[in-house]
Amino acid sequence: MNIGIIGAGKVGTTLAIAFKKAGFNVFIASRSIQSAEKAAAISGGISTSIQRCAEQSDVIFLSVPDSEIENVAKNIKNVVSKEKIVAHLSGAFPSSILEFLNARTCSVHPLKPFADPLLSVKTLSGTLFAVEGDETAVNEIEKIIQKINGTPIRIKTADKPIYHLAATITANYTVTLFNLSENLLCSIGFSEIEAKNALLSLLQGVLNNIKEEGSAQALTGPILRGDIKTIQLHLKNINDPLLKNIYKSLAFATLKIAEERKLDKEKIEEMKKVLNDG
Ligand SMILES: NC(=O)c1ccc[n+]([C@@H]2O[C@H](COP(=O)([O-])OP(=O)(O)OC[C@H]3O[C@@H](n4cnc5c(N)ncnc54)[C@H](OP(=O)(O)O)[C@@H]3O)[C@@H](O)[C@H]2O)c1
Repeated sequence: MNIGIIGAGKVGTTLAIAFKKAGFNVFIASRSIQSAEKAAAISGGISTSIQRCAEQSDVIFLSVPDSEIENVAKNIKNVVSKEKIVAHLSGAFPSSILEFLNARTCSVHPLKPFADPLLSVKTLSGTLFAVEGDETAVNEIEKIIQKINGTPIRIKTADKPIYHLAATITANYTVTLFNLSENLLCSIGFSEIEAKNALLSLLQGVLNNIKEEGSAQALTGPILRGDIKTIQLHLKNINDPLLKNIYKSLAFATLKIAEERKLDKEKIEEMKKVLNDG
């Protein structure tokens, strides 16, 4: 089977390596010839133009930024047909953004943060791929994903925004929270590397607890204990208004977990008052 990848960036190059290793013929095209050639050299695929890539491939993955998917699809409109599958990789947008094509269309979202392709490909095995779209396209794509040891999971088209919201909160906002905490430690004299290592060790422990016990049981800390004075001390020491908003919003969300964990109702109300006043 010939697989075409349009967009030789982080995800496109990673998939090109994995598909080639799994025995597929891989054609790669991109906006710039340099990117396509680099991805072809790394993966062992063949670099070509966007139109030729679509012409030569049975299954075409559009691995371009979400805002470019429809433009690229328009570019290949005249060379695709119902024999071909065209898939985009956006987590947020539905496959229906491709429905103007005379092809079988779907969306395939790998639930993984991709950075350097050579590193990402090493941990691709076991990755969940959320798929939705044309039934025959989805069936075929599921088989292809299994060939690279991915795990396909079907989602409803209408559920994509919620699915992507969950992925974004975990994958992106954990990074943001980590970064905010690093800045706090650096502001009291930790070096960048000390701050990173200290918080990484803490986060690793949190991840282990979530893995073993689930998120609600993994919660520890002053809110769960009902330590109101500690929360007041935190609020007094936050100078940045943005950080204060984030802290308070997350504290209110954390109170809901504490409620589930049967924290005393009076303590919860008192804590809410402190957060509203602080
Ligand atoms: N990164 C992630 O963690 C991740 C995870 C899951 C899903 N996704 C999805 O995967 C898709 C690709 O994301 P990415 O992170 O791999 O992006 P990326 O690293 O920025 O790569 C995008 C590539 O698309 C190419 N491109 C841009 N406009 C183009 C056009 N008009 N025609 C042809 N090629 C064009 C660029 O090519 P040049 O280099 O040639 O300029 C670039 O190499 C997106 O839909 C994204 O939502 C990403």
